[in-house]
Amino acid sequence: MNDYPATHEGRTQLVLGIETSCDETAAAVVARTADGQGRILSSVVRSQWEQHRPYGGVVPEIAARAHVECLDEIIADALREAGIDFSDLSAVAATGGPGLIGGVLVGLTEAKAIALVHDLPFIAANHLEAHALTPGLTEDLKPPYLLLLVSGGHTQLLLIEDVGRYVRLGTTIDDALGEAFDKTAKLLGLPQPGGPSVEKAAHGGRADRFNLPRPMLGRPEPHFSFAGLKTAVRLAAQAAAPLDDQGVADLCASFEQAVVDAVVDRTRTALRIARTRAAADVLVVAGGVAANQRLRGGLAELAARESVRLSIPPIALCTDNAAMVAWAGAEHLARNNTNALDFAARARWPLDADATPVIGSGRLGTKA
Ligand code: KG4
Ligand code: ZN
Repeated sequence: MNDYPATHEGRTQLVLGIETSCDETAAAVVARTADGQGRILSSVVRSQWEQHRPYGGVVPEIAARAHVECLDEIIADALREAGIDFSDLSAVAATGGPGLIGGVLVGLTEAKAIALVHDLPFIAANHLEAHALTPGLTEDLKPPYLLLLVSGGHTQLLLIEDVGRYVRLGTTIDDALGEAFDKTAKLLGLPQPGGPSVEKAAHGGRADRFNLPRPMLGRPEPHFSFAGLKTAVRLAAQAAAPLDDQGVADLCASFEQAVVDAVVDRTRTALRIARTRAAADVLVVAGGVAANQRLRGGLAELAARESVRLSIPPIALCTDNAAMVAWAGAEHLARNNTNALDFAARARWPLDADATPVIGSGRLGTKA
């Protein structure tokens, strides 16, 4: 990390953020006042989903190439929407990981070039940290709080003690939750991305028709597992074949309910740990799966029972975006934590370097 002189303190900072770690190309400009308040001046997100659709999932090579093709234009759009020029910026931040390495490289290289040409401080933001700090931007929420991050790539329970101080309480030992939704949809012949189609199909379904497992229920450590549930859905679908529309609705509803029961149980355990460690009495939920209504309902009930506040950023800021990256950059800039231009892209970059590997775990890659 470089130490920039304190000239960045004491005035409003404008930070350009760039996000290219998965299948969204995004750029945004946020302002951070001297007293730490955030405002989004622009946030442009372009999804590549149509390019990946024929393959049924994100293809890293296609993703990286698609980022290259549109990133300049998206940055120009973000600056124009914010009504500013490169010369107005205080810093430039890009996701430095974790994520698909080809995509991360594209965003990082672009940000470094902008920093070099316009003589700006550069920050390599951790994508997970960017999700984690979003409530500071959207509702001026300061740590400590507990974060439940549920997306297509990540499923984690993180205690956010302070900016830069994170304790991973739980993670998935196999699939991410969004991935479980996507695989369930694929199995039932529903369109991708699977989360919204499973949710739609579950409307009018009976959640008690299929008896599916609630993985990891009651375990003392708040880890997750969804691979067994996915297999159980497949076996249930085979046993009940051929499934009519009502059958698909019932299976989707039963799947969703199993997910909610498991996530609520794991989150309750994490909340209790979080409250003893850092008096955290706010539960923040982020990631694309936070859009799910049944999950929101279950978490709202949990929050009421446990007397904690539930905070879910607007869905456009729960899913991948660059405003969160710019904000993480602004938070670090305010602390004079900037990076040298030789920062290397990271496929893996755990927020909590001290987190012990999960016993009996399978892959603990970027999903963890
Ligand atoms: O955070 P996100 O947009 O991208 C990353 O994975 O980083 O999350 C996408 C994931 C996908 O797996 C998608 O199926 C899931 O979030 N998702 C949902 C819903 N909307 C999106 N899962 C359940 N219910 C939804 N309504
Ligand atoms: Zn994400």
